[in-house]
Amino acid sequence: MYLNSRNSCGGQSETDENSHPFRVLFVCLGNICRSPAAEILFNAAVAKAGAQKRIAADSCGTASYHIGSKPDSRMLAALQRAGYDWGGHRARQFRRADFEQFDLIVPQDESNREDILRLARTAEQKAKVIPMCRWFPADAADREVPDPYYGGEAGFDHVVRLLERATEALVQDIEQHR
Ligand code: 4NP
Repeated sequence: MYLNSRNSCGGQSETDENSHPFRVLFVCLGNICRSPAAEILFNAAVAKAGAQKRIAADSCGTASYHIGSKPDSRMLAALQRAGYDWGGHRARQFRRADFEQFDLIVPQDESNREDILRLARTAEQKAKVIPMCRWFPADAADREVPDPYYGGEAGFDHVVRLLERATEALVQDIEQHR
């Protein structure tokens, strides 16, 4: 388990459904492949846990190349093969205000993590940044979410399978530590 009270909202109780939800931001490079997939899969796991009032999610990219774009069609196809639909998200870039607006910031790979940490100004902001691999299953061969952008269909299916398990573990972690 990787969350503790530092990762929740100022130490206040989250069990009250009137308090704001625990907010998670998934980050990758372009916000068209990995992080929108993580958001979709995480939202499905949140719904499965009946936690929609307690947990909220968004995603963004460290780069500006794809601002306003839909997720990559290859990623959407892989998600659809696994039974998930796109919820309408459009790509946006990470901004410093996200450090205040989210309780947990989850970079998909090491390079995303370094880029976000470079923008952090306080120890509290840095403490909100925890890489996606923390919630990988113990038998995972990967140490980060691999970038499928320049590869084939199998790479997209692999990312969906990996993120499906990791996001479910993250929901359980949040629910246990609120
Ligand atoms: P993502 O994938 O970071 O998972 O959205 C990529 C998207 C675009 C590029 C690279 C990776 N690109 O070079 O444009």
